[in-house]
Amino acid sequence: MGKYDFDKLYDRRGTSCLKWDFGMERMGRDDLLPMWVADMDFKLPDEIVEDIVKRAAQGIYGYTDPKQDYYDAVSGWFERRHGFAVDKDWITITHSVVYAIVLAIRAFTDPGDAVIIQQPVYYPFGESVRVNGRNLVNNQLIYKDGRYEIDFDDFENKIVSENVKLFLLCNPQNPAGRVWGRDDLIRLADICKRHGVYVFADEIHSDFVYSSFAHTSYMTLGKEYQDKLILGTSPSKTFNMAGLQVANIIIPNKEVREKFRYENMITGYSQVNSIGLEACKSVYTKGDQWVDELIEYLEGNLSYVRDFLKEKLPQVKLVEPEGTYLIWLDFSQVTDDHKELEKLIVDGARLWLDAGIIFGKETSLFERVNIACPRSIVKQAMEQLYEAIGNADSKR
Ligand SMILES: Cc1ncc(COP(=O)(O)O)c(C=O)c1O
Repeated sequence: MGKYDFDKLYDRRGTSCLKWDFGMERMGRDDLLPMWVADMDFKLPDEIVEDIVKRAAQGIYGYTDPKQDYYDAVSGWFERRHGFAVDKDWITITHSVVYAIVLAIRAFTDPGDAVIIQQPVYYPFGESVRVNGRNLVNNQLIYKDGRYEIDFDDFENKIVSENVKLFLLCNPQNPAGRVWGRDDLIRLADICKRHGVYVFADEIHSDFVYSSFAHTSYMTLGKEYQDKLILGTSPSKTFNMAGLQVANIIIPNKEVREKFRYENMITGYSQVNSIGLEACKSVYTKGDQWVDELIEYLEGNLSYVRDFLKEKLPQVKLVEPEGTYLIWLDFSQVTDDHKELEKLIVDGARLWLDAGIIFGKETSLFERVNIACPRSIVKQAMEQLYEAIGNADSKR
């Protein structure tokens, strides 16, 4: 028995919770089980909640900046968990990783310049490139034998032919579930270095890695790969505190950092969220055991889904994840029409998932499912899925 209870159900409705309170606004109905947005239904440990409450109870919420203890907490986490220390000067705090991606696009590319991504990938990558008037280039991941791989030749060819200036890397990869290994990362990094491409390495899911895998941070590839690196990190996924708006963007190179900070400054953003700062310090000093137990629990959820599908819904294929709590299901043996798939999921199974089409047209027959919730919810979701498609013929 662990110290923390991840089975406990909390009613999040009525808290303006994006996941649970917006069914009517976003889906036109409120009877769907929400497993879409990357937001977990677990409560943080009491010792962390107490730190946040203590700060809030002071009742004064003026301008706040980080002190040395904040930087020590952040560096300590990355040193203990990911094998690198972070120099205080390298950190720029922003309110989110997506905001930092936008800053990087604006700081290191000009309108019309090319930015490369690897779909299927977290959809704000592509959106951020497009809405900022840059040229979106896709190095599609190859889906083969139920697993995603990188097409390195296509990656380098497109970097050259499109004159790519910036690469948005997602590691661990959402939603493909890959935790890129050192060899793959070095190959990508060598290509980027050869062609002078900036790299934004989004490692927001780096704490969610299943037991037979290990996360390799871009920061650990070697100093020679740090000259054009922007590392996106945040406690917001690991500790489910996106609502507290704090992300640590780590940039070792001084010139790159200054350009990034200039872009941040001209948006008018300055001091950080006072509660977010306190929470980040607390989770990064007191949260280790909770995360260790959480990963074990998620592994249990994953096994449940794996066994359920194998036994009762073999036509739905689980893309075996190496990391992240977002699982990627292949429904191509159920239907070949993504609109019909959506109907099966929403009207049939009464589930609110992220449809594969939003991650690129190649994955329109996939669905992304968030399993970071008590097991009883995962079980309910699987039962509802079974009721909707369990007895249906394949490829109707
Ligand atoms: C890869 C990736 N990056 C960034 C984010 C969002 O981070 P933030 O809320 O800090 O913008 C998510 C959220 O799911 C994500 O999956």
